[in-house]
Amino acid sequence: MTPAETADLPPPAVASDLAGDAGPFYDRPVLRPVYPIETARLTLRPFSPDDLDDLYAYHSRPDVVRYLYWETRDRAQAQEYLEGKIRLTALEKEGDGLVLAVVWREVGKMVGQVSLEWLSREHRQGEIGFIVNPDYQGRGLATEAAEVMLRLGFEDLGLHRIMGRCDARNLASVGLMKRLGMRQEAHFVHNEIFKGEWGDELVYAVLDHEWKVRQAAIA
Ligand SMILES: CC(C)(COP(=O)(O)OP(=O)(O)OC[C@H]1O[C@@H](n2cnc3c(N)ncnc32)[C@H](O)[C@@H]1OP(=O)(O)O)[C@@H](O)C(=O)NCCC(=O)NCCS
Repeated sequence: MTPAETADLPPPAVASDLAGDAGPFYDRPVLRPVYPIETARLTLRPFSPDDLDDLYAYHSRPDVVRYLYWETRDRAQAQEYLEGKIRLTALEKEGDGLVLAVVWREVGKMVGQVSLEWLSREHRQGEIGFIVNPDYQGRGLATEAAEVMLRLGFEDLGLHRIMGRCDARNLASVGLMKRLGMRQEAHFVHNEIFKGEWGDELVYAVLDHEWKVRQAAIA
């Protein structure tokens, strides 16, 4: 894992006072990973225009978007989406999102994508997201890729809590978040109208110290 660059800017003078007993001084104001990021089976890197075929292959599938907020995309819509994500390679400020292509080296294809959004700088909060082409699911690839996003969020950006959300019926997403060591924090009942019907939403999360204990146990 490559460390993110740390900006050469002093944090606000009040940051340490505000932190209180909430943890160490927050001295990592940006996340700029060095790419590519390699895991045992995967290469994670920013999207490129060449990813259109592989991206369209899963963005066009109803089983992929069943529990996502968007509908299937045609090729032109997939290209527009791709163009919007190519530059999302760093977290410079609160509200930024990082979206990475997941390449399974064994097949030489982009098989999915993972994301990390910086929800709050003051509260050191982030959110992960993940999609894997169904042709390549059931192999632990989503887990392997999402673990990278947790590591980037906790180790390199210094987040305190990372959450994930899903439709309560999305059992594959629930299973993934559990594998990542995330705890269920909430089950919102009919908190939104999702694709034309009342939907339930689950919130899962993991804290930095919980993640570190888990990493030590795995090592
Ligand atoms: C959510 C999603 C990414 C999960 O994908 P996945 O392939 O099930 O997850 P993983 O890659 O972690 O694979 C886990 C499965 O592979 C199996 N597996 C095989 N080898 C494995 C390994 N080395 N490590 C972990 N799991 C492995 C697990 O047992 C598990 O199987 P199971 O589902 O039968 O229990 C996928 O369902 C998806 O893209 N859904 C559509 C988009 C979506 O809804 N995203 C989430 C929005 S909240």
